[in-house]
Amino acid sequence: MYQIIDGKRISQEIKDELREKVAVLKEQGKTFTLAVIQVGNDPASSVYVGNKKKACAYIGIESLSYELPQETTEDELLKLVRELNNNSAVGGILVQLPLPEHIDEEKVLLTISPAKDVDGFHPENVGNLSIGRPGFVSCTPAGVIQLLKRSGIEIEGKECVVLGRSNIVGKPMAMLLLRENGTVTVCHSRTKNLKEITRRADILVVAIGKPKFVDASYVKEGAVVIDVGIHRNENNKLCGDVDFDSVAPHTSAITPVPGGVGPMTIAMLMSNCMNGMPK
Ligand code: GUN
Repeated sequence: MYQIIDGKRISQEIKDELREKVAVLKEQGKTFTLAVIQVGNDPASSVYVGNKKKACAYIGIESLSYELPQETTEDELLKLVRELNNNSAVGGILVQLPLPEHIDEEKVLLTISPAKDVDGFHPENVGNLSIGRPGFVSCTPAGVIQLLKRSGIEIEGKECVVLGRSNIVGKPMAMLLLRENGTVTVCHSRTKNLKEITRRADILVVAIGKPKFVDASYVKEGAVVIDVGIHRNENNKLCGDVDFDSVAPHTSAITPVPGGVGPMTIAMLMSNCMNGMPK
């Protein structure tokens, strides 16, 4: 029988721990303010941003909301980011992605002060992660590590295969698994003999962005499978990068979609905010 890793429960557990810590710091007069910027009104982004603000309210973190019109220029957005960088009352800055096409995403992420980069997207934080120095870590891969640890799954010495090499998930995921002393392989769209490699995995993290791409033929019997994907299928139902029904019986533990990795991203964002609070 396999374990279904309950991301909803684990994320709630983390949020409750953070809420207690934030309350203690608040009593000492220490607070944290997160500035959340959204440009345009992409419906998925609006849901994510709404959930982030809700989580802030639950934990006791202040949130400042900047809902800018689709026509906002790159210069206007950069000006706002610089103002927030210089505003000592603001502890964290989050610019929701994707940005409209006329705005250079990289330029915006580079402008956010690394000390306020609670998403962990700035190259300085990415670099710190890769050389084992403290810094903000990208929330989704950090959430995967918490799911594994809090489900009693050991990473040290395990064959870990990451399917996908994005800057936000695949690459930081590999770095974090390495930091936990896993033996890490990263696969991507040009990888040859993909199944041969994924079938070696004790822990397989799938972040390839293709609905139900991974079926049972990619998975070793008894492996742990973590599904980072989220898609809507033809019936408007949510599904992941993994074909859950065919894969689950071959695993020892697996994350569902929804209710697996998804809820962890916001919990880890809150954790990053809390860690950024004055000590
Ligand atoms: N868009 C989708 N996921 C994320 C995220 O984790 N952070 C930001 N800023 N934008 C996103």
